[in-house]
Amino acid sequence: MSYEDVKKVWMNGRLVDFADAKIHAFSHVFHYGSAMFEGARLYKTRQGSAAFRIDEHIKRLYDSCKVYRMEIPFAAKQLRDAIFETIRANGFDECYIRPVVYRGLGALGVNPFNSPVEVMIAVWKWGRYLGDEAVEGGVDVCVSSWNRMAPNTFPAMAKATGNYLNSALIKMEAIVNGFTEGIALDNAGRISEGSGENIFLVYGGRILTPPLAGTILPGITRDSIMRLARDAGYTVVEQQIAREMLYIADEIFFTGTAAEVTPIRSVDRIVVGAGRRGPVTERLQKEFFALIHGEAEDRYGWLTPVPVEAAVR
Ligand SMILES: Cc1ncc(COP(=O)(O)O)c(C=O)c1O
Repeated sequence: MSYEDVKKVWMNGRLVDFADAKIHAFSHVFHYGSAMFEGARLYKTRQGSAAFRIDEHIKRLYDSCKVYRMEIPFAAKQLRDAIFETIRANGFDECYIRPVVYRGLGALGVNPFNSPVEVMIAVWKWGRYLGDEAVEGGVDVCVSSWNRMAPNTFPAMAKATGNYLNSALIKMEAIVNGFTEGIALDNAGRISEGSGENIFLVYGGRILTPPLAGTILPGITRDSIMRLARDAGYTVVEQQIAREMLYIADEIFFTGTAAEVTPIRSVDRIVVGAGRRGPVTERLQKEFFALIHGEAEDRYGWLTPVPVEAAVR
């Protein structure tokens, strides 16, 4: 991945050059992973560029920080303005948006309270996370030997950087074994989520997804797909799902800001359904893509256009 196009990064209230977007090696976050973050996207639409569900992403960032007793030193509106300012400063018409709230330079004990809460916003061009062909052809995945965090260990509802060490173990194991992605089970052996995606299964005409019960991230794409599916007349059930459902499901797909909606064509080399994108996945993908690209009416108010810069007097 290249960051050549990235000109400016927002750090604690001001835009700095990419080369100057640095934090001190004594920062608490570097030693103890004390950061919360978001991943959102700016899409090109027929009506201009728009961020997808940006206020929900900002809300989740505040929620993550609340769990970890981090007070963000900016109001939500300031963060939203800062995100758009960063996008404009880089001249992007589509990009990935990554705000990070972290504990900076203070005192290097585990106790985070003595290190200031700081904010950085990065934007960069990021294509399809699981590959362009995956959108239609699907991906081959495995069940990971690593479980997702158990309830009351690491709060899964907080999007904390530290959680991604578990994700990295899942992802690395999948890659070295020739798979694109891994699916983690929870500590009771039920389906949890991918290393960076939520998961849905279609079985007997119903759409199933694991519940928000302490092992998955409350994905904003997950929520969007549930809304789209229900409005399209499907029954969507949030329930605990046994591992073996992965082997007998008619269709399976991942959802996420990075992965968008990606079909899964095999799990542990067992073919899912007909071994290609199924009709439910295809329909939901089409609805989702039409919405994010402004081809369908924004009936849920999910798109926020990049505000026009106020005229300089
Ligand atoms: C572990 C994990 N689960 C699920 C998701 C999907 O969440 P969202 O749809 O909000 O991007 C992500 C992506 O950020 C993730 O990292």
